[in-house]
Amino acid sequence: MISFSLNGADVEVDVPEGMPLLWVLRDTLGLTGTKYGCGIALCGACTIHIDGVAARCCVLPVAAVAGKSVTTIEGIGGGTGLHPVQQAWIDEQVPQCGYCQPGMIMAVSALLRTTPEPDDAVIDQSITNICRCGTYPRIRKAIHRAAALMRDNGPVPDSTT
Ligand code: FES
Ligand code: FES
Repeated sequence: MISFSLNGADVEVDVPEGMPLLWVLRDTLGLTGTKYGCGIALCGACTIHIDGVAARCCVLPVAAVAGKSVTTIEGIGGGTGLHPVQQAWIDEQVPQCGYCQPGMIMAVSALLRTTPEPDDAVIDQSITNICRCGTYPRIRKAIHRAAALMRDNGPVPDSTT
């Protein structure tokens, strides 16, 4: 049995220790917002937070999060509504097919926690997730909008905080 906190609730799973966390989230726990893209930690589609830090969980053994706090796209708003990054994504109509977007939002929300006002250079350096639809210009705009929302209204804590 492996225990950890998931979106603010304690969970216990009876799975092999080496099973990738992405498999456990999607297939064992039924949270399908976190996506499978490359499976080799390159594309970012599977980005989640572990203790508030962005992580790619397609290659991460579930045992690595024992006793830790995991947040997925389903929990990013902390149960209080939309996270400012989600609101900015809607305002800027970022998604095209949408497949990469949960991972993008998780990567961006983690970035804004440590870097509240990133410039374009920092964004390009920090957000290395891949979007095959090429929504990068709208992503940049939405990151600046989310930063402004968080500056004006204060950050919405997600369930890791
Ligand atoms: S599916 Fe995990 S980084 Fe691509
Ligand atoms: S919106 Fe389609 S892959 Fe990013």
